[in-house]
This record gives sequence, structure tokens and C-alpha cells, in this order.
Amino acid sequence: MKRTKLWRPLSECDCDVAAADRAEGVFVYDALGRQYFDGYSGLWNVNLGYGNETVRRAMHEQIDRLPFVNPLFFSETHAEQAAEKLCRMVSPDMEKVVFTCTGSEAVEAAIKIARKYFHLEGREFRNIAVFENSYHGSYYGSMSASNFEGHYRQGYGPLLEGFISLGTPYRAGADREEAERLLAEELVEWLRVHGEKMSALLIEPVIGSGGVIVPPAKYMEILRDYCEAHRILIICDEIACGFGRTGTMFGFQRFGLRPDLVTLSKGMNNGFMPVGAVCVNRETVRPFREKKEILFHLSTQNLNPVAMAASLAALEQYTEEILERIRESSRFWELCLEPLKGFSCVRDIRICGLMIAIDLADEQGDPLPLDRLMELIGVIGKNGVLSGDSHIDGVLSCVLLFPPYTADRQQIRRCAAAIRKSVLELFPEA
Ligand SMILES: Cc1ncc(COP(=O)(O)O)c(C=O)c1O
Repeated sequence: MKRTKLWRPLSECDCDVAAADRAEGVFVYDALGRQYFDGYSGLWNVNLGYGNETVRRAMHEQIDRLPFVNPLFFSETHAEQAAEKLCRMVSPDMEKVVFTCTGSEAVEAAIKIARKYFHLEGREFRNIAVFENSYHGSYYGSMSASNFEGHYRQGYGPLLEGFISLGTPYRAGADREEAERLLAEELVEWLRVHGEKMSALLIEPVIGSGGVIVPPAKYMEILRDYCEAHRILIICDEIACGFGRTGTMFGFQRFGLRPDLVTLSKGMNNGFMPVGAVCVNRETVRPFREKKEILFHLSTQNLNPVAMAASLAALEQYTEEILERIRESSRFWELCLEPLKGFSCVRDIRICGLMIAIDLADEQGDPLPLDRLMELIGVIGKNGVLSGDSHIDGVLSCVLLFPPYTADRQQIRRCAAAIRKSVLELFPEA
């Protein structure tokens, strides 16, 4: 193994991977010239494909004109316009946008705003409820909010306190109606016991890294009504779901939620620059305005003009037409992956917009062990497709695809064929 000085994210210190060389459209090429269909859209952010000319041009102009300006001294037109645009896109309730550099930072800023709002209102802040198996980031606050099992968080403590766990809105194996009924009953009971410990709810409307879990509509209705009746802040983490990924512009729109805060990142500038945001509604801004209270959140890198120009250029491309394309593409993926459902090792295929989880089982029908899942993902890569994993011990074990919105039918067909071939290579009995 070649040792480099680079310590890569979420990796052992000497982990080695192929060197990337260039990317174009929906393809990434490594240094040996091998082509990969990017079934992961970068890291769920290069939604519109590589080399997006509009974003590239906007960045070039901005680099020449004003690559940086102190955000404490000056405003800047792209940031102003991007904030306007985001509020229009997210909901008429939105009043302010706080720009960050990443999704993790956006989640942390949202937690700070929620706590401070309660403080300014003279209300005691209790806990933030988070879904089990959800992911909200890797900084201290966002890592503390992330609620998945495993050893990853061990040894970093003390973590931020004040989170309580709401079960994953999912039942493996149960028939759909039965699962929905059980989940609704469990939620009502959970609210009866824990509801009053909760000051805010932080959710991924569709759980992404946790295996593409779409909560049942009835479940979300109960949760929404409870939060609204008890003045519990709803924070929707749209970092993965936002900008069309689930087939609606934002995941919360599927459930008729009216979030108080919305966190965003990933597709915000199609992966060109690190950027994130928190949209804050009128009611949450109110006490800050009335009490002339500053928001204590700053990084030198926030509001970088090049990132803002890139964001504005990308945001303008998230239109009704692109949503229609996502929905159509989603149906085509479903059709192309359908044959996999006949394999005994495939327990389920969950598709929500362009979030796809192929849920796998071993010979006993249990979730595929992690080492075999990673082996399969390696084979899929060898067969020219980049994909990811979602593994929750004893619950689910999935190949994840978050394909680009711009993939055409032939590319989708080829990708599905490569996955089928890879499954057959590892499970000849499938
Ligand atoms: C739902 C969700 N929240 C937060 C994050 C963290 O965002 P970032 O990786 O930009 O810090 C992610 C990243 O995958 C995510 O999927």
C-alpha cells in the first residue's frame, strides 16, 4: 500500500483509493483513464452533472471581479440574490438565510438559532428529537445530532447534549399497511411519554444515508400536528433531500410540513464550492429582531463571493422542468432495476425521486454483512459505476445510488446492467 501524507475523510489513516483525473457530464475518469458512471453524483451534490457551464462562467467572472470581501464590512450582490432566491424556493414563511460552508455547519447554526430563539422568548429549551439512523453531519454538534449505531462516535466525547431519539419510521419485512399502522401507534405512544421533553424536531424528511426511508404520510401528519400544537420548532434537514433529489423541490413538501428552519447544502452550487445555508422563518427571526440580538455565528469563509456566485447560478437551474425530468428519470430507474427484484439476495428496492437503495440479504435472509456489501460495491466500481453503502447492523444493508439528474436513458440502462452483472458475479445463485 502506497503511504501518502493525506488523511482522507471517514478513513483509516493509510487508506488508499484510486486517483481521480477529470470529470465530464455524468462520468468521472481516474488517472489510469478508466471511466465511471457517477451513480453517486459526487457526494450527492453534482446533481446537474460535471462541467456545468453556467456555474463555471459565473465563478470565472466573480474570481476576476471580487474573489473575497470581508463579510463584516460589505454585502455582495450574489449573496443578496441567492438569499432572496432561496427564500422564494423554500417557502413564503422564510425571512432570513444564514450562509455556511457545509451541511454540518448549517445543522450546527440551526441548532444554535433554535436554542437562542427559546432563550430570547424566555422559554426553557429541552431537547431536540432526531430520527434513529439519521445523519446530520460530522462536526461536534451535527455529529451529536446524528443518531446511528456503531462505534464511529466512540472516544470523541463529551458530545453535545440535548438530543432524544425517535425510532426510525420503518419496519423491515412487515406489509406496508401493517407497518404504517404500527409506526403510527408507536409514534403516538412515544409522544405521550417523551413529547414534553421535546423543544425541537430535527429530521431528514426522507432518511438518506440510513437507507432511503420514506416515513409514512400518516406518521408525518401526527408528528406535524403535535409539533404545531405544542410550539415545537421543526427543523428540516434538506441537505440530502433538497433541490429535487426526492422528486419535489424539497423533501418536506411531500408531507405538507411548514418548517421553522431548513438546512441546505450539497446541490446548492452543484459541487463547485463548499457552501451551505439555513433558512429561518419569520417567527424564529422575530425575537432576534425585536431584541436587537446578534446571531453569534461566523467563519471567515462564510459568504465567499465566488461560492455565492456559483450558488446563484446553480439555484436558477432548479426549475419545474428539472423536477419533471427527475420524476421521469426516477420511473425509468425503477423499470431498469425491476429485474433485480427477482434475485433472492435482494430484499427490497426503495426509490424516492433519485434516491435509490438496493437492500440486500445473505443466504439466511438477514441483512448482508458489511464486508460482503463493501465487496459488492467494489465489484460495481470495477464494472464502471460509482455507488455507496448504507449498513445498519441487523436492520438493513444497501447499495445506494444518488444518480445525476442529467443521466440519459442509455446511461441509466447501462448502469442498471452493470449492477445486475456485479450482483451475479458475487451471488451466482441469485
Ligand atoms: C442529511 C444530511 N445532513 C447533513 C449532512 C452533512 O453535510 P456535509 O457533509 O456538507 O457537512 C449530510 C451529508 O451527507 C446529510 O446527508
